[in-house]
Amino acid sequence: MRILVTGGAGFIGSHTVISLIENGHEVSVVDNLVNSSEISLKRVERITGHKVPFHKVDIRDREGLDKVFSATHFDAVIHFAGLKAVGESVLKPWEYYDNNIGGTLVLVDVMRKHGVKNIIFSSSATVYGVPEIIPITEECPKGKCTNPYGQTKSMLEEILSDLRTGDEKTGDSNPWNVVLLRYFNPIGAHKSGLIGENPNGIPNNLMPYITQVAVGRLDHLNVFGNDYPTHDGTGVRDYIHVVDLAEGHVKALKAIENKCGVAIYNLGTGTGYSVLDVVKAFEEANGVKIPYEIKPRRPGDVAVCYSDPKKAERELGWKAKYDLIDMCRDSWNWQKNNPNGFEE
Ligand code: NAD
Ligand code: UD1
Repeated sequence: MRILVTGGAGFIGSHTVISLIENGHEVSVVDNLVNSSEISLKRVERITGHKVPFHKVDIRDREGLDKVFSATHFDAVIHFAGLKAVGESVLKPWEYYDNNIGGTLVLVDVMRKHGVKNIIFSSSATVYGVPEIIPITEECPKGKCTNPYGQTKSMLEEILSDLRTGDEKTGDSNPWNVVLLRYFNPIGAHKSGLIGENPNGIPNNLMPYITQVAVGRLDHLNVFGNDYPTHDGTGVRDYIHVVDLAEGHVKALKAIENKCGVAIYNLGTGTGYSVLDVVKAFEEANGVKIPYEIKPRRPGDVAVCYSDPKKAERELGWKAKYDLIDMCRDSWNWQKNNPNGFEE
């Protein structure tokens, strides 16, 4: 298929571009590079031996997007482009709603103008809020999001689903197909060590923080709370290797091909690990010590969040292959070979 990947220079996007190419798809990328570097795409080209057409376009730029869609007829769009820092979204809500929601509204408008009505959207486990069911199935009711970032994911799920409903009600002969992928906690990196997660400033998320401690950029890890009702008191999450996540997008194209209407899938491993489990696994996988200090809970955190990923296995034939040791090894392989990210 011919696929347009928005946000394809970013962490999950760049890994997905590789999986798509390896599975025989033709891929173009749109990204405004607000949180990424074009070097990641050069490295994707090195890894795959394929040229990746790149358009430096903001998804809010209607004319820019229109040119991209006029030049190539795409079968589907995989939509990663968005801002994703939870704390920043509380301080800059307008910027998050404008970029994530405003940007997506422009994107889908340009898509429908060109008759491209198949979209795979990056959603998040954050839409479950404080989950009512553990492990979390797709039937688990959505919860209250505590920040504008989470709100944008939850609202965009509704907006994209409503597009399909509207088409059904009007009997549109080319109705939208929408796949909502709810990611759990993506970590790891491509085994080449050439691409990986490259956060700006001090990382908010656990694994990039750990790798920066390991590489000596940060002194120690702060563990946010050890009084949760979990086996060691620290928060439990469903960490998933980014390459498994990337493969999930390739499999999700199957749902599009089958004209799925609106389909929702959790992408996780189904296993929860605590913060201290991750620290231990990292030390074991890499032989590097991670000093840590216990700190108060981080506001907005839930105690336990892990998926039931069986729906994706049943309907898409997708299942995560990599374990926590693989994730820790590959995260470290990326960071130690690129201590300053993509700055060469
Ligand atoms: P990322 O920041 O590495 O990638 C996002 C990409 O989108 C970046 O390359 C950025 O430059 C680009 N972008 C942002 N706004 C844009 C705009 N207006 N126009 C064009 N490009 C734009 O983040 P990621 O971790 O790869 O996440 C990808 C998607 O998955 C995001 O939508 C994110 O919210 C979602 N997600 C991520 C996680 C996670 O833990 N990483 C979890 C759940 C969901
Ligand atoms: C966070 C976001 C979520 C987003 C996801 C991916 C919040 C509340 N949630 O998920 O919306 O989709 O990132 O971007 O921010 N931890 C530490 N020390 C650290 C960092 C994290 O102890 O320095 C702990 C956390 O308390 C948590 C676990 O590690 O228990 C994982 O944290 P993190 O990687 O930030 O992911 P989430 O909070 O699950």
